[in-house]
Amino acid sequence: MLAMTRSAFDLDRLIADCRDALREDPPQKAVRDALGAPSRAQVQRLHVATDLVILNAVWAPGMTIMPHNHNMWAVIGMYDGREDNIFWRRIKDETGGRIEAAGAQALSTGECATLGPDIIHSVTNPVDRFGGALHIYGGDFFNAQRSEWDPETLLEKPYSVEKTLRMFEEANKRVAGA
Ligand SMILES: [Fe+2]
Repeated sequence: MLAMTRSAFDLDRLIADCRDALREDPPQKAVRDALGAPSRAQVQRLHVATDLVILNAVWAPGMTIMPHNHNMWAVIGMYDGREDNIFWRRIKDETGGRIEAAGAQALSTGECATLGPDIIHSVTNPVDRFGGALHIYGGDFFNAQRSEWDPETLLEKPYSVEKTLRMFEEANKRVAGA
């Protein structure tokens, strides 16, 4: 803890709340209550350091994020809602870093996914309400060199944090206008 850069968020408090939640049934409901029920798409920065980033990611109904990598390990813990992950791999000897689908994993409330540093995934919220997950990354998530893949051509390009954050805001506008 001493080596971490503190943000306004109180990590100790979240951990204490999560520990208290273990005594409740089901625990994920108490964790959700500690974070607040998800009601708008966002990437909330709970803790940001060069070696550890913890985010509260809330997906809008039906929202999809294009394939991307992290280049660091990640753990995703779904505390409310559902998400479907498609895992991708680079096609050998293909120019432009084109990818193909390699697998999938459905996450439900209370479930967790562990992603290795080489994982490429896209994420969809397949249900008609907001979905919330705690994302823990073992590195400098917002500044690391990363890639994303065009959802239509499946070709590789540099990852843009700003573009991804814009997608969350656009999703909110879509939901508000629906
Ligand atoms: Fe991701």
